[in-house]
Amino acid sequence: MNSPKILRLSGDKSISHRALMLASISYGDNRITNLCNGADVQSTIDCLTACGASINKNGNSCNITSGILSNPTTPLNCGNSGTTMRLLAGLIAGQKISAVLYGDSSLSKRPMDRVIKPLKKIGADIKYIDNKIIINKSELIGGEILNSTSSAQVKSSIILAALNANATTNLTETYQTRDHTEKMISYHSSKSIMLEDNRITIKPSKLHIENIEIPGDLSKASFLIAYACLKPGSDILFENILINPRRIGFINTLNKMGARISIENKKSKYGEKVGSIRVKYNGRLKNIRVDEQAVRDMIDEIPILSIVAALSKGVMTISGISELKLKESNRVLGIASNLRSMGCDIKEVNEELSIKGQSYLYNTNIKTYSDHRIAMAFHIASFFSKHTMIIDDLECIKISFPDFFNKLDEIML
Ligand code: S3P
Repeated sequence: MNSPKILRLSGDKSISHRALMLASISYGDNRITNLCNGADVQSTIDCLTACGASINKNGNSCNITSGILSNPTTPLNCGNSGTTMRLLAGLIAGQKISAVLYGDSSLSKRPMDRVIKPLKKIGADIKYIDNKIIINKSELIGGEILNSTSSAQVKSSIILAALNANATTNLTETYQTRDHTEKMISYHSSKSIMLEDNRITIKPSKLHIENIEIPGDLSKASFLIAYACLKPGSDILFENILINPRRIGFINTLNKMGARISIENKKSKYGEKVGSIRVKYNGRLKNIRVDEQAVRDMIDEIPILSIVAALSKGVMTISGISELKLKESNRVLGIASNLRSMGCDIKEVNEELSIKGQSYLYNTNIKTYSDHRIAMAFHIASFFSKHTMIIDDLECIKISFPDFFNKLDEIML
């Protein structure tokens, strides 16, 4: 029996942000291993350090000693990272400190009222002016919140704030989104949070985190998984990868399209499910309809899914794409305009994308809009297309996956 190529990836980006933030407000010494090595997570580290957290980083591990945050002396630069800006807004509002948060030109265009409104409702003195979030020292009162924005960042921002309110907060979610914040709090401090169906109860309390090992990042793996599904003869095993049910929409969708992807060696680590993902090439895939919940369960993987769809049989329809227009770039525009210029028949009608698959595409000039996931998705497309591709910005890949090209080389050898 042939053995697969084995790959390990640095930690999940979403979980890395949360681990750093929660460890910064938790008692005692905390150690985090296998942090995500992207620039977004460094933005979170820099902002927390400016708020007085003592974070000693050594490679992809760090020790944090903190417990109490203090007023930063300068505005906090969140760079390109929506997760940093939105989650920190909640964390800082709860810490009874004052701060100003801002980001780069992409982050400055993204909606912030979605976190400002609920944080105000639980008592935060917070406003959004000239692309900056301004937080004044606040006493949070907790209360009832309905989150009907399909966003884990909004939910997490409210939870982080509510941990330090004067009373309980009850948060009801209309949509199911990634649940890492509540899982992490529940694992380390079960009395601080209660989870039932779509309702989360946050009871103010001090946390004690100690150790967290971050599972490998499925969103990073998705680009390499797509390559393996498209490249005859591939057989790759990604070890120690996050397999949280709210994140594996991409794997489930590819399997429904006929891919051969199995999850082995499943375990629970620090409250999250991890496993080894084995991908074997299984012929050309067949497009299917992708519904709104599946999109939520792979919201960051839609650019690379669109590339797979454009090279598979039949037509893929992807519903509920409105949130994709609010990411690091308008991803519907980035996907549709670039795929169209590669010769693909792609349409956007009523918040639905329809992509007609074909045997190959034509390489051309690709505009990434400085969006890391658009850049990686189209770089993968270039291997299955004729002529030569020129991508206008590959630097942006360092936002989430600085070793993308090295890992790709490893599986292509
Ligand atoms: C994230 C949630 C998602 C995702 C983003 C990371 C998180 O954003 O697209 O890359 O870590 O909570 P939304 O909350 O805006 O859906």
